[in-house]
Amino acid sequence: MILMKYSTESVAPSYVKAGVLVRSRERRAVASSPRPGSPCLGPGGPGACSRVRRYVHNGLVPRSSKPRTSWTSSGELDFLVALADQARGLSAALQQAVRDAIRDGRLGSGQPLPSTRALASDLGVARGTVVEAYEQLAAEGWLVARQGLGTSVADIRSVAPAPAEPPAAQAPRLDLRPGHADPSSFPRQNWAAVTRKVLAEAPDEAFGYADSRGRPELRAALAGYLGRARAVRTTAASLLVCSGAGHGMGVAFRAMAARGARVLAVEDPSSPRLRAIAAGAGLRLVPLPCDDLGARVVALPSLGADAVVITPAHQFPLGVTLASRRRSELLAWARASNAVIIEDDYDGELRYDRQPVGALQALDPGRVIYAGTTSKSLSAALRIGWLAVPPQLMDLLVDACRQVSAWPSSLDQIAMARFIEAGLFDRHIRRMRGIYRQRRDLLIAALAAHVPMLRVTGIAAGGHALVRLPPGGPGEDEVINGAARCDLALEGLGGYRFGHDAAELARHEPALVIGYGSPAGRSYRAAVAALGDYLRSVYARA
Ligand SMILES: Cc1ncc(COP(=O)(O)O)c(C=O)c1O
Repeated sequence: MILMKYSTESVAPSYVKAGVLVRSRERRAVASSPRPGSPCLGPGGPGACSRVRRYVHNGLVPRSSKPRTSWTSSGELDFLVALADQARGLSAALQQAVRDAIRDGRLGSGQPLPSTRALASDLGVARGTVVEAYEQLAAEGWLVARQGLGTSVADIRSVAPAPAEPPAAQAPRLDLRPGHADPSSFPRQNWAAVTRKVLAEAPDEAFGYADSRGRPELRAALAGYLGRARAVRTTAASLLVCSGAGHGMGVAFRAMAARGARVLAVEDPSSPRLRAIAAGAGLRLVPLPCDDLGARVVALPSLGADAVVITPAHQFPLGVTLASRRRSELLAWARASNAVIIEDDYDGELRYDRQPVGALQALDPGRVIYAGTTSKSLSAALRIGWLAVPPQLMDLLVDACRQVSAWPSSLDQIAMARFIEAGLFDRHIRRMRGIYRQRRDLLIAALAAHVPMLRVTGIAAGGHALVRLPPGGPGEDEVINGAARCDLALEGLGGYRFGHDAAELARHEPALVIGYGSPAGRSYRAAVAALGDYLRSVYARA
């Protein structure tokens, strides 16, 4: 490290712990004859001395052998510039150092900078390097250069301070909140093999912009898979690939708004994220109450909705299936009121006690927009989802999709297509059914052993279970806050409600929505054991 000064003041060279202070006139002598054992002190060309950190020290006089803590100003400019990172060249390093000094307040508005000649001389670099740095900083507004007056710091009041980083939230040690697939079960090897093949074999055009509807390979593979596994009636031409079901439904909501829809019926309770997406599309949301048979579709005619979004296979978060009679009533309402149904089939493949219930879309493909995703079955990191769209709505949806302009990578789309075609997606889902079933059983057994008074409701499906809390006992908030103090993150059903109807609220039974998709591996066992212990302590006191 070299400390350099460029003022005319005479300072005796002094070697210090943190580096070397060199008088301007003596710099070259020091630079050309390195001190034994010191790092390279070669002439100042970029790269010639890459391990040396340079300091430009303007008018600062060390009083003692610890100059970094005892600098005083000689009355000239008072700042220390560290040319720390020279990877991008000396000019870039000098620019960064001056920017930092201005931001930190070490260089104030109007303060003059040394002439390019003096600074270049002190640094032992070409004058052009300093000229380039000054010109760049002047172009960016940090410095002003005036004919005959030299270069000085610009009016820095116009430089807004960088926004402060919000404090990083401390992640809880044990997290049983719902919505996450098991991150440790991602089929890394198969995905890597498929991806390698795609990279080797994909046509050149795959590396450019994709069709707004998604890669044809994936749409063709999905048409086959969805028909086979979810009974969806669709073709490659009626499928849109999107960045997850959330994005896909956002596209559908926008398309509905463009078609003239104003009011969207949304299940109550439901995902707050989905509601935010729908509200962002400009729709007014009305709550559609749900009970143990799913959405109470009988309420729809009174809601004045133009469209409804619904989770028929596995209501989120109640975890029930829409009763078959209600399915027919829902379709009858949609036909009678020319409304569109958006079917959110976010985890429909994951059923553990019987064959999954087929998609509602199959009953009326001309009226239902079907949304699916890999987020629960494979990984939310892929951001791959899809919509099966009624043909007459396709153009509207493609337009909305272009406006939102977000797609999963074409290469991942082709990889997903190959993953499906090779039977690896089906195999992975079968494996995950086994894993999730075990996780669910473990949760239920732990609750039965520790807190038999709590009821687990909902079908054996997906990645979450509803744990009903006995009325009259501690409420959701009390239970959740107490768990947080034990470093255990839980969520309550109340957070998913959004209607304010007094009769509906009175019907509200307190419950926890426990996710069993994550955390990974042994941490899940530890989290379930902690949950059992914690709830036992709560109800022992109650
Ligand atoms: C009920 C429900 N639907 C849809 C989604 C959408 O998931 P993604 O956008 O990751 O596909 C989620 C995500 O958690 C969800 O909980």
